[in-house]
Amino acid sequence: MSTLKRTSGIHVGIIMDGNGRWAEARGQRRVDGHREGARAVRRVVQAAPGLGITTLTLYAFSADNWLRPASEVATLMSLFRHHLRTESAGLVEQGVRLTVIGRRDRLHPALVHSIQRAETVTRAGGVLRLRLAVDYSARDAIVQAARRAAIGPSMAYMDRTVFAGLLGEAVNEGEAVRDLDLLVRTGGEQRLSDFLLWEAAYAELLFVQVMWPDFGPVELARAVAEYRNRERRFGRVIDQAG
Ligand code: FPP
Repeated sequence: MSTLKRTSGIHVGIIMDGNGRWAEARGQRRVDGHREGARAVRRVVQAAPGLGITTLTLYAFSADNWLRPASEVATLMSLFRHHLRTESAGLVEQGVRLTVIGRRDRLHPALVHSIQRAETVTRAGGVLRLRLAVDYSARDAIVQAARRAAIGPSMAYMDRTVFAGLLGEAVNEGEAVRDLDLLVRTGGEQRLSDFLLWEAAYAELLFVQVMWPDFGPVELARAVAEYRNRERRFGRVIDQAG
């Protein structure tokens, strides 16, 4: 059992990898994998609150994903827009508050509009905080926060908590999102790919073979169970005697 028990809900981050390989293994196009991946997002969002997850951050598009073929990027962008428009009402019903983290200045204005609309209509959701990372780079987010710190009133009060409050959406929301408790990456690769580097300082890492389109409530429950079995020491020594 985990030694340092948490009474509040947990923050889970997921690197949703393997859409392309999932599709190629079936003789389909990579974009078909992304479409199926979007369905997996819906299933996971529905299952998350029942597993004690109160914040869920999904890596949908990294700042480096712009380097993919233009047609794949265009499909992903139109998938995001489509789902933001069609899923918002359902998210409101489920009490899900959606926010999008990452840069917006390189997104199509129509997508930015859909993001703002979805954020506005879901704002009162108190069951699950869903954060979608789009055009996101953790290193860029840290550099941005450092810039904000440099032009702030005083560096003398700078510490981890203050700095965390300067990261991304925390600036607009006036509160920092809790650190990541569990980071899951699907698709079998074992790397962080510039995702939540600050917030993952003490996250438990879980790399699973399953491709993202095949990930669902059962796999999520397994991941959370594995997390709850880990001993989180946060750098301390746990007294075994007692
Ligand atoms: C990584 O798989 C996946 C992405 C870059 C895109 C993730 C997007 C989705 C799951 C769709 C999300 C939709 C909404 C509405 C949030 P990959 O293409 O790198 O797969 P591969 O490693 O097998 O090539």
